[in-house]
Amino acid sequence: MTTDRARPSLPAGQQPGGPLTALAPMQDVTDLAFMGVIAHYGAPDYFFTEFFRVHAQSKPEKHILRSIDENTTGRPVFAQLIGEDLGHLARTAEELLRHNVAGIDLNLGCPAPKVYKKNVGGGLLREPAKVGEILACLRAIVPGLFTVKMRIGFDDTANFDRLLDLVNEHRVDLLSVHGRTVKEMYRSEVHYDWIAHAVARARCPVLANGNVLSAPRAAAVLAETRAAGVMIGRHAIRNPWIFRQCREQFAGQPVTRLTLADARDYIERLYRATQPPGLAERYHVNKMKKYLNFVGQSVDPTGAFLHAMRRAETEAGLFAICDRHLMADGAAEREFAPEPYPGVIARPNCETPAEADGCSLETVTA
Ligand SMILES: Cc1cc2nc3c(=O)[nH]c(=O)nc-3n(C[C@H](O)[C@H](O)[C@H](O)COP(=O)(O)O)c2cc1C
Repeated sequence: MTTDRARPSLPAGQQPGGPLTALAPMQDVTDLAFMGVIAHYGAPDYFFTEFFRVHAQSKPEKHILRSIDENTTGRPVFAQLIGEDLGHLARTAEELLRHNVAGIDLNLGCPAPKVYKKNVGGGLLREPAKVGEILACLRAIVPGLFTVKMRIGFDDTANFDRLLDLVNEHRVDLLSVHGRTVKEMYRSEVHYDWIAHAVARARCPVLANGNVLSAPRAAAVLAETRAAGVMIGRHAIRNPWIFRQCREQFAGQPVTRLTLADARDYIERLYRATQPPGLAERYHVNKMKKYLNFVGQSVDPTGAFLHAMRRAETEAGLFAICDRHLMADGAAEREFAPEPYPGVIARPNCETPAEADGCSLETVTA
């Protein structure tokens, strides 16, 4: 049964009346530094933290808390939880509500086998009754916005309607739907028809997620699904201007065209922002390569930049490669492609392997 309790309203987007945009939560990516870099090029309407792990001994991870407490982007941040124990979920949500969060978000989608085998994240989609208990528990203690991010099922969509009905019953305020099953991981086609189905059945606004590659694609996904907005993950790592470009597209304005010089500026900013004090240069260069796997998909159609940057060992070496591929011989003015070049794959043989215990740049590419 639903009640007549008034729903808390969602924070206003930056484009009055326009579709919403959100940066998808990404473990090891959407930290304080990354959110700051994204906001520099054009903030999304909403941020989501990477997931706080909830279990008997858990305390909200300090580095994730920083993305809330020290956030200067001016945009709302939803705190995401992953777990299944009602008491510990409630305790963690209460702790997080003492911070400046826009709301509490529940992860019902993580497909890493080590995660779903513990019956958390995407694993819970096999057990709608358990999902119902968790939603009831969190709804009871979250006075403000309570949101859910889910996939369309575990192996198939057999439970989807039941799950959507639970979302309605427990008065979830915003639902983000990644249009793949857990078993489809990250590379299959995205089932926008199932996102459209969620939009039709859910009483709350829905954000459409999965392969929103560019501003024109965002508009097409919204037209197809009738969703209230889009949530974008990997393609914001590749192209941090994407939220600003979406707003331009939605307003019917020309979409900003980017050059390889713009991409060079982004790489430098990302390098400086994400460099932790005291980390050996070699490690940071290796971490940068994980972001650059995505950026490189828009640099050249042959993957030459990707190939070269993977060999960098030092900061100077990495930036020399950037200068050669992005700035020299007229490259600076060349277009930074709005969508990945076909066939230029971030890491061709990589999908979340069985031993991974979450979603990280080590294991998830595009
Ligand atoms: C590196 C990486 C880490 C992720 N971590 C999370 C996470 O912590 N919580 C979550 O709900 N989804 C996580 N996801 C899934 C994304 O939020 C998103 O649903 C998925 O990447 C599909 O959207 P995209 O095609 O725009 O990337 C992660 C994805 C990637 C690539």
